[in-house]
Amino acid sequence: MNVQFLDLNAQYAAIKPSIDRALKSVIKRQDFILGRDVSVLEEEFAAYCGSRYCVCLNSGTDGLFLCLKALGIGPGDEVIVPAFTFIATAFVVTCAGARPVFVDIDPLTYNIDVSKVKAAITGRTRAVLPVHLFGQCADMEPLTRLAREHGLAVIEDACQAHGALYSGKKAGSMGTAGVFSFYPTKNMGGWGDGGAVVTGNKRLFERLRMMRDCGRRSKYEHVILGYNSRLDTLQAAVLRIKLAHLDSWNRRRRKLAALYTRIFSRMPGVTVPVQSPANCHVYHIYAIQVDRRDAVVAYLKKHGVGCMVNYPIPLHRQPVYRNLGYTPGSFPQSERIARRIISLPMHPFLTVRQISYVAKTVNTALKEA
Ligand SMILES: Cc1ncc(COP(=O)(O)O)c(C=O)c1O
Repeated sequence: MNVQFLDLNAQYAAIKPSIDRALKSVIKRQDFILGRDVSVLEEEFAAYCGSRYCVCLNSGTDGLFLCLKALGIGPGDEVIVPAFTFIATAFVVTCAGARPVFVDIDPLTYNIDVSKVKAAITGRTRAVLPVHLFGQCADMEPLTRLAREHGLAVIEDACQAHGALYSGKKAGSMGTAGVFSFYPTKNMGGWGDGGAVVTGNKRLFERLRMMRDCGRRSKYEHVILGYNSRLDTLQAAVLRIKLAHLDSWNRRRRKLAALYTRIFSRMPGVTVPVQSPANCHVYHIYAIQVDRRDAVVAYLKKHGVGCMVNYPIPLHRQPVYRNLGYTPGSFPQSERIARRIISLPMHPFLTVRQISYVAKTVNTALKEA
């Protein structure tokens, strides 16, 4: 049997008529730049997230970067970032001219260990950038309280967590701003690059809207330093169709994850992902931990199981961040998880038979690899 890590063709087949219709209507209108579907998606996605405002942009990376710039964060400032995440979470800080300060993760949820954040705050800290990794929110209640006490902005990296809930609140709606990626593989992905920022802060919203569009207030009046970071109308048309399916696709992911977890809980040698009590995890990634990870990955691939490692190198060990002065052992949990983690196939179109095959193959890999 072959089990793909992700099956975007199956997703397209499920919604083909509505996608094709939506694209045709953009073609008919020819409103390719900041067209009707972009503004409607902004309204719909803000409402979905329970946020007042939404600005669509050309990637999650730009969303994070422009939030930092719009908040005036730059040279001399520090931003707290988990040591275990995708590199974009940190390099946006560097690109804004500030310094990323890493904090270790909680080994059960893979998210920033909030109990270690306070020790990382200095007089230069301006913001904390929690990541809702793999589809589960960071522990936002104590984190936002701490940020409030220290006057810090909270930028939620919700790039992997469309529709996730924390104490009944949507990912992205709890901080100063929440940033999403619409990269094609995400729970809500476009047909190219894309992203969005949601916020309840009117001033931030207005700045972001200008910054993503050449800093303009009107056609040729440019009031702040801007960029070209607009979401294409064609992408917005695709994304509006997918937003309508997001909750049911997330429910299916949760069902499949529960099935994996039920099987693996009886299997010695496998550590399953943990959903913390406040969270409703949307399993963008279903990640287990095993010993001898690389041998297990090779065995799975050889036997038709699409799998990945998110992420093999924690940020403080990345060559690009050698200059920050961290050493091996600086963040032991991040280093340990990076050695042990495997992402298994996870998407709403997997069958129960495929899940059983993946689990069975993991079991034989543990014995034979
Ligand atoms: C945690 C995290 N942050 C940021 C990004 C950047 O998003 P994009 O690829 O849309 O720029 C991603 C996307 O992979 C991500 O997973």
